Amino acid sequence: MKFATKAIHCGFDSDPTTGALISPIYMTSTYMQEIPGVEREFSYTRANNPNFTFLEKQLAALEEAKYATVFSSGLGTLTALISTLSQGDHIVGLDGVYGGTYRLFRSVFSRFGIEYNTIPNPTPEKLAKALSTKPKWLFFETPTNPLLDVFDIEAMVNTAKRYGVSVIVDNTFATPYFQNPLKYGVDVVWHSTTKYISGHSDVVGGVALTNNEVMHEQMVFGRKAIGLNPSPFDCWLIARGAKTLALRMHQHEKNAIAIASFLEKHPKIKKVYFPGLPSHPSHAIAKKQMSGFGGMISAEFKLSLENTKRLLGSFKLFALAESLGGIESLVSHPATMTHASMPALERKRCGIDDGLVRFSVGIEDAQDLIADITQALDGVAIHSED
Ligand SMILES: Cc1ncc(COP(=O)(O)O)c(C=O)c1O
Repeated sequence: MKFATKAIHCGFDSDPTTGALISPIYMTSTYMQEIPGVEREFSYTRANNPNFTFLEKQLAALEEAKYATVFSSGLGTLTALISTLSQGDHIVGLDGVYGGTYRLFRSVFSRFGIEYNTIPNPTPEKLAKALSTKPKWLFFETPTNPLLDVFDIEAMVNTAKRYGVSVIVDNTFATPYFQNPLKYGVDVVWHSTTKYISGHSDVVGGVALTNNEVMHEQMVFGRKAIGLNPSPFDCWLIARGAKTLALRMHQHEKNAIAIASFLEKHPKIKKVYFPGLPSHPSHAIAKKQMSGFGGMISAEFKLSLENTKRLLGSFKLFALAESLGGIESLVSHPATMTHASMPALERKRCGIDDGLVRFSVGIEDAQDLIADITQALDGVAIHSED
C-alpha cells in the first residue's frame, strides 16, 4: 500500500458493532474488569485507550515502524525516551535541535545526572571521537531547526553502530511523508505530532516509533509510569489530520519552493536557508535521503535588528506565532521565540543570528503568500551598512 492509502486506511477499519466508518472517541478513564487483577486489553487511560491504539497503528504504518507509542506532546515523548536512561549516562547531540529539546536536556535532566553535549560541525573524525566515549545515544534532528541543515542519516548510523551507540532522530520537520529514518537503521524516530502530522494547529501531541520491542515496552511503561498520556480526543484529532498528510505535504513543499526561489532573488535578502534550493549546502544529501524538502524556510535580511522585528510584525497572512506545520503560514523569530531558551552565546555558536526569520509555509495560494512577503519587505528599509 502506498503512503496516501495507508494514511486513510490504516489504524481504524469501521466500528464492528455500528458500522461507523470513523472511530468513536473513547472518553473513558477506566475499563471494567471481570476478574480482580486480570486486565483486559485496556485498563486505565493513563496506560492505554482505543484511540491511542488507532493512532499508533496509523502512524506506525506511515513511518514503516513495527511499534508506535503516542504521548501528550513532542516533549512528553522525549521525556519518556530519556526515562530509559540512568544517572551518569551521556548523550552526544548534533547542533540544530528545537530550543525546548535543548532546554529539557540542559535545564531538567542534567540535574538528574544525564549529560548532553553537542559536536559542532560534526566531521567523521569528530563524530568517531565523540562516540568512542560510549554515550548511550547519538541524538539529532534533520533537517535542523532553524537552519535547515541536513545530516546524512545513513552515515551517522553506520558510525554510531560501530561504537554500539543508539541513534535517536526527531523527524518532525521532514515528516514520514518525506523521510523514514528507521530504514537507515535509526533506533527511535520521534515526532511532535502537534506539527505537520496533525496539521491544523488545534492539538498538541507526540509519538515515538521503533522496530525494537524492548524499547517499545519501555515507551509504554514510561507513558503509564510518568503520566505522559495524550487525551483520547486529541488522538482522534491527530488521526483525522494525518489522513491528509500526503496532500498537505505536497502543497507545503510546492509553496516553499516557490517562496524560497522568490526570496533568493529579492534585493533585501542576505541568505535563504532551504534544502530544496540547489545553492543550499545540504541539497545533495537532502535529495539522497528525502523524497521532498518540506515546508520550512529560514532567512536573513539586509535589515537592522529593529527593522527585522518590524518586518516580523507586518505580514498580513503569515501569522507571527510559535509552532509550525499547520495549514496556515506562520513566521517566527527564533532568537526570541522557538530558541529563546538557549543561552545567547550558544545560539550564536550554532549560527542562529538575532536577525534570523523562520517561515512555516502553509498551504494557501503561493502567489498570495509571495504578495504578502513583498508588501512586508516593501515597508522596511535596507540597513545602511549592508
Ligand atoms: C522539531 C520539534 N521537535 C519537537 C518539538 C516539541 O514538540 P511539542 O511542542 O509537541 O512538545 C517541537 C516544538 O516546537 C519542534 O519544533
